[in-house]
Amino acid sequence: MFDGNDKSFCSEFLEKVVKKLSVISRKIGANFPSTNSRTGKFDPKENNDKLASWTNGFWPGMMWLMYIKTGDEYCRKIAEECEEKLDKAFDIFFGLHHDVGFMWELSALADYKITKNERSRARALHAATILAGRYNPNAGMIRAWDHASSRAIIDCMMNIPLLYWASKETDDPRFGYIADCHVESVMKHFIRGDGSVHHQVVFDPETGEILEKPQGQGAAPGSSWSRGQAWAIYGFALAYLNTGNTDYLDVSKSVAHYFIANIEDGELPLLDFRAPEDKKYFDASAAAIAACGLIELAKAVGELEKKIYENAAMKLLRALYKDFDESEDNLWLLNKCSASWRVPTSIHIPYVFGDYYLLEALMKIDGNDGSFTVHG
Ligand code: GLY
Repeated sequence: MFDGNDKSFCSEFLEKVVKKLSVISRKIGANFPSTNSRTGKFDPKENNDKLASWTNGFWPGMMWLMYIKTGDEYCRKIAEECEEKLDKAFDIFFGLHHDVGFMWELSALADYKITKNERSRARALHAATILAGRYNPNAGMIRAWDHASSRAIIDCMMNIPLLYWASKETDDPRFGYIADCHVESVMKHFIRGDGSVHHQVVFDPETGEILEKPQGQGAAPGSSWSRGQAWAIYGFALAYLNTGNTDYLDVSKSVAHYFIANIEDGELPLLDFRAPEDKKYFDASAAAIAACGLIELAKAVGELEKKIYENAAMKLLRALYKDFDESEDNLWLLNKCSASWRVPTSIHIPYVFGDYYLLEALMKIDGNDGSFTVHG
């Protein structure tokens, strides 16, 4: 898997990332770093008062990956403290949403997998129960937020592994049933024939009728938000790895082929693959997430197919290297992540999720990503 040149490029890249994280972990500590999308400013404490934010699992997740790679007890301590602080989000409950998978899979479930801590196991099961409770049987989908009309979003594919884990962990098929129903409905309503993907689908909560497929974070309704494509590549690959259902593998492959057809050598993916040509906005986080999915695809397919996905993952990682910020004065790894086409201040800024998936992709090629999302 991956030839010698690619492996040595990735191991040098990982070494630089680990060196920087060893330093900035001391500066960030047990806080919840994020970027304010309205000001574009990264703040190591941005989310300390917004504990329900969907991004709050990524920093503890990075610290667990660092612990696996280096054995650094300080990183483990940060991860554990962040996990404990997140209990307050459970207590408050209001404000929690479909993204409890991102939040507790990379914090509590990572902890449980590494240390067998029973309190962490309970937290992960608690999160899975909240996620399962958001399932709408009429639509066959997990509802995203509470604030808008009932809708499901492609990003939620990344929360589904938590349900597969909970099913196996409790020997209770309810969780896996909900996960499968959601994945099947996403195949039907989100994936277009050409391998591109809708971001959001609005449904009638009483009848399940599909009402609208709006713009979401991309350039227009019917466009192709690259991070949404990346969530689908990785999310469907994970659904396959957690179930063995080859229909899910095929969807991941077809979205990957669409993604691969839209990226250029040496460049990050565009924020939207169907954006007007005069607006060249990029998204480093889409590259990092897609790279994780492509690496999993390369491992899952036969010998004669592997290179398609390995080469594409390497193309993305080489583009990410150009965006990597080596300065230890800056508390992030990637500069050019983007949140939403409609919010200009959220374009070409750092985001903790971009950094997380960069580290995870490099760790995968290094041979150990902790498998926080693959539950064999
Ligand atoms: N899950 C939210 C996003 O990808 O921006």
